[in-house]
Amino acid sequence: MSADRDTALRLFDLTGRVAVVTGASSGLGAAVAEALAGLGARVAVLARRADRLTELAARVDGLAVVCDLADPEQIAIVAPTVAEQLGPPTILVNAAGNRFTTERAEDEPLDAVQRTLGLNLLAPLLLAQAVFPHMRAAGGGSVVNVSSISGRVGIPGIPQASYAASKAGLSGLTTELAVQWARHSIRVNTVAPGFFRSEITDSLYDSPRGVEYLRRNTPLPSEGTARDMVGAITWLSGDAARYVTGQTIVVDGGWTAR
Ligand SMILES: NC(=O)c1ccc[n+]([C@@H]2O[C@H](COP(=O)([O-])OP(=O)(O)OC[C@H]3O[C@@H](n4cnc5c(N)ncnc54)[C@H](OP(=O)(O)O)[C@@H]3O)[C@@H](O)[C@H]2O)c1
Repeated sequence: MSADRDTALRLFDLTGRVAVVTGASSGLGAAVAEALAGLGARVAVLARRADRLTELAARVDGLAVVCDLADPEQIAIVAPTVAEQLGPPTILVNAAGNRFTTERAEDEPLDAVQRTLGLNLLAPLLLAQAVFPHMRAAGGGSVVNVSSISGRVGIPGIPQASYAASKAGLSGLTTELAVQWARHSIRVNTVAPGFFRSEITDSLYDSPRGVEYLRRNTPLPSEGTARDMVGAITWLSGDAARYVTGQTIVVDGGWTAR
């Protein structure tokens, strides 16, 4: 390999860093965990399904952390556990997320609204607070939140008011944390995916009407995949993005460019 290629690739090297990736039992979180490990990071993979985490942790030589992000008491244990077993975390990817109602805005049940905000917005804030002392002590770090284009634009035909609010909230959290924590060289960014196939969108992709709807609204010709989101997240995690903070990077095949 030529020296220039070495230097260029080193921008993406995460050797020696410890990362926490939520939502790692499936979809995007699992893909991100594998990519960060492939770039050299020690990765703590977090979700509720222990069997999947154990299998992934073994494959990436990482740490399985079983945690229900709806429970602040369980969240409080994450950073100390990771710090003790892998070392102080300096990368946090908040990829876990879900929606809990398909009702139109006027009918969203309070319980579903609260669960959505708890998982999609409160948990990322609590985890960011928990890793902050470790990142500060290490002289820097990177937090990457995963939001959605629905935090940017309304999505006709797929009602998701509380989900959209939670995802837009992540962008607000991102700019504020980025400014407050910049003095510690802790960068905070958000990646806003468009549609890709996963457990939460399977039914859309399994229906011919859904596929046609996605095709009609996505300028780039190929279907989005979790892998298509990974590049932006790995870039933001490491030194290649060392001067990027407070941003929401949209990865949507051009959906919001129309
Ligand atoms: N798929 C899309 O088209 C799309 C589009 C825009 C944005 N996004 C966002 O991308 C992120 C990843 O989604 P995905 O599509 O990859 O979905 P996914 O395959 O359903 O993965 C969601 C992950 O979140 C975890 N999770 C859910 N509730 C949890 C809880 N209470 N505690 C701990 N972990 C929990 C799940 O693990 P357990 O069930 O094992 O706990 C799973 O690993 C989400 O934030 C989603 O909002 C997705």
